[in-house]
Amino acid sequence: MCGIFGYVGDKPAAPILIAGLKALEYRGYDSSGLFVPGSGVVRSAGPIANLEVKIDPSLTDTTGIAHTRWATHGVPTEKNAHPHLDMSGTVALVHNGIIENYKELKEGLLAQGITFASDTDSEVLAKLIGTLYKGDLLKAVREALAMVRGTYGIAVTSTHNPKQIVVARMGSPIVLGVGTGANYISSDPAALVPYTKDVVYLEDGECAVIESDGYKVYESSGRNRQKNPEKIDWDIEEVQKQGFEHFMLKEIFDAKEVIDNTIRGRLLHDEFRLVKLGGLEPVLDEIKSLDRLTIVGCGSAYYAGLIGKYILEEYAGLPVDVELGSEYRYKRTVTQGKTAVIAVTQSGETADTLASIRSAKEQGLLTLGIVNVVGSTIARETDAGVYNHAGPEVAVASTKAFVSQLVALVLVTLLVAKERGVAEAELKKIAKELQTLPEVVQTYLRDQKETVARMAEKYARYNDTMFIGRKFHAPLAAEGALKLKEVSYIHAEAYAGGELKHGPIALLDENFPVIALAPEDDVCEKMISNIEEVRARKAPVLAITTEGNDAVVSVADDVLEIPKLHPMLQPIMTTIPLQLFAYYVGTAKGLNVDRPRNLAKSVTVE
Ligand code: AGP
Repeated sequence: MCGIFGYVGDKPAAPILIAGLKALEYRGYDSSGLFVPGSGVVRSAGPIANLEVKIDPSLTDTTGIAHTRWATHGVPTEKNAHPHLDMSGTVALVHNGIIENYKELKEGLLAQGITFASDTDSEVLAKLIGTLYKGDLLKAVREALAMVRGTYGIAVTSTHNPKQIVVARMGSPIVLGVGTGANYISSDPAALVPYTKDVVYLEDGECAVIESDGYKVYESSGRNRQKNPEKIDWDIEEVQKQGFEHFMLKEIFDAKEVIDNTIRGRLLHDEFRLVKLGGLEPVLDEIKSLDRLTIVGCGSAYYAGLIGKYILEEYAGLPVDVELGSEYRYKRTVTQGKTAVIAVTQSGETADTLASIRSAKEQGLLTLGIVNVVGSTIARETDAGVYNHAGPEVAVASTKAFVSQLVALVLVTLLVAKERGVAEAELKKIAKELQTLPEVVQTYLRDQKETVARMAEKYARYNDTMFIGRKFHAPLAAEGALKLKEVSYIHAEAYAGGELKHGPIALLDENFPVIALAPEDDVCEKMISNIEEVRARKAPVLAITTEGNDAVVSVADDVLEIPKLHPMLQPIMTTIPLQLFAYYVGTAKGLNVDRPRNLAKSVTVE
């Protein structure tokens, strides 16, 4: 999504703003711009490098705001890039979100003789603030926002008040960075870490005034609100690539550490506690008595939720529904008995997932979260939850966060199963095997990386691919297809293996390979039949199966073998070659796998 960065301090602002935008690049964008009061707006379509060359290096202004844009309204051009100005050219605004009533606001402004230089909803807000400005920038911003419907994270500054920035948030994150002799604002804490680890997250409805020697936060009522900084607990070097060519590969290889961090202090707590999830303690009694659980997520998080359904129903006997965030928020939901809604989300800011949580709260349902970004909106708005502790995930394609989401869902399953009196022997066996998983995954990555890379080279030439799997691996087939299409732009579909004969098999021929997830489990024979019926249509088959499963090896064209684990844990292991495969296909095609076209890291608008 769009990225916002601002600085007010005692150093020239422009270089700091550019560095801030570069730290936000991974979110995906198509244009960028900045405003410093002494020289006005500088904008550019394309990469930030195009903006940088336009900036006068002699600029001395010590205040400024900057923006990377991911087009929602108006095509990605220089005129639609932010910052946008008011009529006088003295008030500048950057915006992340969607102003839903911008058309009616624009009509009112046009009637006042205001003119517009862009097609964007954000410019309407800039012009509106300008018409309301009478010397108090905060007052003008608050009055304008009172007329707005929609979502926003905004930063506003002015030549009249060149030593302050006004920010406000409704639905799109804004975080303050508290420095010494300087203060910062950003849409993502990762951009603040090079300067400070003391941050203040704005809540929806709040605004703030930032100056070089301090900040003031105001509630939606306008009342001043004391908010002390929190400390970010990870270092910027974690966000560096640490020697890997791409963030995506680094994050795939982070799997061991991520699984370690996700289970740390939570597993086999003592002889009585199979699993301890501190974030769920306050609502443990409610979880124990649940009749149903609804898992909500988008993209990879949704597929993690589907796998969560399989394991929760199989091992805890808890009925589970899984909903797309973009559907749950609008549909009529019928709840039966005690129901909780759990959001699975890496960023904790996905608009559709956030809206679903708010809808669940309006229905009076218990809301939980499995969230990676600490302090994110969904983490703060749910009643309780589990942090992934997977560290910052920079690549747009989710890899380590997805692995952590599966591990967290296993922990929740073990917790719920234990609370529901499920036989403990099986649960203990799974818990013990889970403790070995980090090493198993690490060894696989070390020993099989090249094998997967070679396989990817072979399959990179196809334009179409189909992923198939059964039971726990049916949703994983969909995740494998998503990973591949995201970073290689190859058309990839996914089906439960049993669905092939109901239509999809019509697609298959020698140019349409199938990736078959066929571990040795209770549906392996059915997968072997699928592989045979696919081969009969001349489609090449790459099977991912467990070591020594000769029955699969004998029918597939190509095979990637993985360690055999307990069925509840097997999807986590199978995920690793799928992620590596997508990565190497994408790089074999010379694509930017960290920042795929058209995609953003966190979809904070609908
Ligand atoms: C995953 O590779 C995608 N980048 C995307 O589907 C992502 O999982 C989805 O947008 C949900 O994001 P969240 O986990 O931050 O809510």
